[in-house]
Amino acid sequence: MQTRIALLPQMGIPRPYTETQPIQIVNAELDPPGPEEVCVRILAAGVCHSDLSVINGDRPRPTPIALGHEGVAEVVRCGEMVSDLSPGDRVALVFVPSCGHCPLCAEGRPALCEPGLAVNSQGTLLSGAIRVHVAGQPILHHLGISCFADYAICHRASLVKIDADMDPVLQAVFGCAVLTGCGAVLNTAALRMGEQVAIVGLGGVGLAALLGARAGGARTVIAVDANPAKAEIAGQLGADHFVDARDPEATAQIRSLSRGGVELAAEFAGVMPALELAIGATRRGGRTVTAALPNPNDRLSLQAATLVTEERALLGSYVGSSVPSRDIPNWLAMFRAGRLPVDRLISHRITLSDINAAMERLARGEAVRQIVTFG
Ligand SMILES: NC(=O)c1ccc[n+]([C@@H]2O[C@H](COP(=O)([O-])OP(=O)(O)OC[C@H]3O[C@@H](n4cnc5c(N)ncnc54)[C@H](O)[C@@H]3O)[C@@H](O)[C@H]2O)c1
Ligand SMILES: [Zn+2]
Ligand SMILES: [Zn+2]
Repeated sequence: MQTRIALLPQMGIPRPYTETQPIQIVNAELDPPGPEEVCVRILAAGVCHSDLSVINGDRPRPTPIALGHEGVAEVVRCGEMVSDLSPGDRVALVFVPSCGHCPLCAEGRPALCEPGLAVNSQGTLLSGAIRVHVAGQPILHHLGISCFADYAICHRASLVKIDADMDPVLQAVFGCAVLTGCGAVLNTAALRMGEQVAIVGLGGVGLAALLGARAGGARTVIAVDANPAKAEIAGQLGADHFVDARDPEATAQIRSLSRGGVELAAEFAGVMPALELAIGATRRGGRTVTAALPNPNDRLSLQAATLVTEERALLGSYVGSSVPSRDIPNWLAMFRAGRLPVDRLISHRITLSDINAAMERLARGEAVRQIVTFG
């Protein structure tokens, strides 16, 4: 079957992407799904910083690779071993396939699935297969999804069935931004009702975390970003205060607004000054959670003794420590009930041919979630 894909032939192409066009929209050949795989038609796909990080090399991946890892799709055809999905079903795409059998899956932590992470690093599906080709050459799968495309082949373990009676553009953000942002605050850091929370880095993931903190009962939410233009949307989404991260007094301001520091700081910027600011914003006994993916060469500077003497905790959060088949339907239901207004995260609706412009907009900080729509 033929499909358009968003092909990244190599990493590290310089900006501006509107001129250098690192992504090529090309026609590709999709193989039929393997026994445990599913052919899906993409309905909507979100543009996340983690795609940008593959383009600029912050998140090194083998190439050539077909990008896109946040989206929703309709099942077109199932492999012979897939008995619980049917053509026409709506699915959310999850960017770590979970095998269900490894020690971490057995522990109830599918986001850390060991075979899932191994195949994601190699750019194959969970079966080890590569199902995309251009002119006979294999093209790697980005995180088992590659949803900047009309169609994709995904492993069953990358899919969560969801209701089909909602606008797919709204559902797209649940696969990464909401799963990661809400999950970091509610699952990884286990927010307690009444806590004061600082959210550092207000992109799609950070703003989803802000909504999660509000829905989870945070008493006060302090939104922090290096871009003052984010103050307005943070306020609309329920932040009580905005602090400019570039201000040398930013940490002191947060500590003053929270009378000595927040109980929980959550970081989604991806640069070390932001993580250091988050840690500094917490009070004694506070916890910091980070879901950002900085460059692998970045090193954090930390006064180690304070972890002990002040009982501070520093937590990493991957895929929001979520169980996607539990959390995506739950949080979609929260959206339906008006408790998680993620529609406000969607700043642009674009077509696949706009993808390089979308990456440039994201790099400039001029977008929250941009959603690619099809047909
Ligand atoms: N852990 C996971 O599973 C997971 C999943 C998705 C995305 N991510 C990562 O989460 C991060 C956020 O993704 P996104 O799509 O929301 O990105 P984004 O580019 O939309 O947002 C990043 C925000 O950080 C702000 N920022 C930059 N420097 C800052 C500083 N020094 N202090 C405060 N704010 C600063 C930017 O102005 C921007 O608003 C990225 O690192 C991404 O790779 C992780
Ligand atoms: Zn993402
Ligand atoms: Zn596993």
